[in-house]
Amino acid sequence: VDPHGFSVAIRWLHVAAMAIALGGAVLLAVAARGRAGLDGLLAISATYERSFWLAAGILVMSGIGNAAAFGIGLPEPASAWGAAFIAKLLLVALLVVASVPRTVAIVHLAALPASVGTQRTVATLYAVTALALLAILAFALRLAHG
Ligand code: HEM
Repeated sequence: VDPHGFSVAIRWLHVAAMAIALGGAVLLAVAARGRAGLDGLLAISATYERSFWLAAGILVMSGIGNAAAFGIGLPEPASAWGAAFIAKLLLVALLVVASVPRTVAIVHLAALPASVGTQRTVATLYAVTALALLAILAFALRLAHG
């Protein structure tokens, strides 16, 4: 296997999973503010939650692959690159931990009678998720090499 081609494929997977997680969260945050029916919104949210956890698993595995591709050349934690990498990892850990109650909330909300309050909660949950992913993306772009 060509090692360069392999690491490009892993990075491609990393970026594709990021696009699914971020794109879905932005779409749901915007849709929850519109006039979409709540039942449809919650059904799509439940589907997104499955995609989110699949994407999160792919991001962590391919992210480890990205780091491994640096080999012995991986920058020290004390360097600017290393500090950005650690900040990114902390944000990823925070997002993953905070996403467990978000998934549980979506499942429970789907079982409750529809209300305007529910729609606002869904909008807030996905706006916060999208902002967290954007913050991670900001650090990721500082890590990216050409
Ligand atoms: C444990 C989780 C993660 C690890 C270990 C990780 C690791 C890395 C590393 C080492 C790079 C630099 C790749 C390079 O320059 O060759 C990178 C790039 C990147 N990461 Fe992550 N990452 C993780 C999670 C995430 C998440 C959750 C997102 C979603 C926002 C994300 C989005 C990106 C993007 C867009 C790039 C730039 C693309 C590229 O250079 O190929 N990463 N990641």
